[in-house]
Amino acid sequence: MDYKDIIDLQNLPKHIAFIMDGNGRWAKNQGQHRLFGHAAGVESVKEVIKTAREIGVSYLTMYAFSTENWSRPSEEVEGLMNLLVEAITNEVDEMHQNGVRLLTIGNIKGLPGKCYESLLEAMERTKNNKNLTLVLALNYSARQEILEAAKKLTELAQKQELDVTQVKEEDFAQLLQTKDIPDPELLIRTSGECRISNFLLWQLSYTELYFTEIHWPDFRREALLEAICAYQKRERRFGMVSEQIQKA
Ligand code: IPE
Ligand code: IPE
Ligand code: MG
Repeated sequence: MDYKDIIDLQNLPKHIAFIMDGNGRWAKNQGQHRLFGHAAGVESVKEVIKTAREIGVSYLTMYAFSTENWSRPSEEVEGLMNLLVEAITNEVDEMHQNGVRLLTIGNIKGLPGKCYESLLEAMERTKNNKNLTLVLALNYSARQEILEAAKKLTELAQKQELDVTQVKEEDFAQLLQTKDIPDPELLIRTSGECRISNFLLWQLSYTELYFTEIHWPDFRREALLEAICAYQKRERRFGMVSEQIQKA
């Protein structure tokens, strides 16, 4: 299918965020180990990046590991970390060739050393790329991010470097890890769960939420095009009434 037949290129989300959910259930449905699902999920990540580049989406943020995910069985956590290093190592060349810039949000210093190092290396190597920005959320907690920003704000106020009474939303946003990244217009969560699970709580204030039953390893090109199509049928009102939007 040619994407141009179904997608309005004038109304593309610039930034799409993903809660990549359902790897475990997808694997279980096939009588496989959960890690088999995570490995298949990496293929979906690659296909989504490729499709996003093709149609011209500028930012993708992918929730890959939450601070809460440390509570999973240690074997799964270890498997996920190994998979992360493997994926970064295998894909960094191609990402770089395709002009993809890698960024992360979350406390990556809290990841195992080999993950941290491979991420730093890949970020350094791709830092000047301009075609697409891929933001991986790793060891990420939105509440933690907001709390850290509030702490920084307090420090700046104590040092008299800012006047707290004058702080605007834009100033606060600059203290978040997503500073300089526009808010996502669209959030996609796969696998039927309709919750945010501590992801981008500040940034999603006016994001369109899209939930699909498809498990992440089955979320490929067509599914992404369908989600963008659904987004384009929505009317984003930002608190106004429909007539005001249509006039604009
Ligand atoms: C998402 O799939 C991947 C991560 C959270 C790392 P899950 O592993 O949560 O899969 P389900 O929800 O158990 O099916
Ligand atoms: C959210 O998925 C985190 C990631 C996709 C990395 P979970 O599967 O961990 O979320 P809950 O526990 O179902 O809310
Ligand atoms: Mg899950």
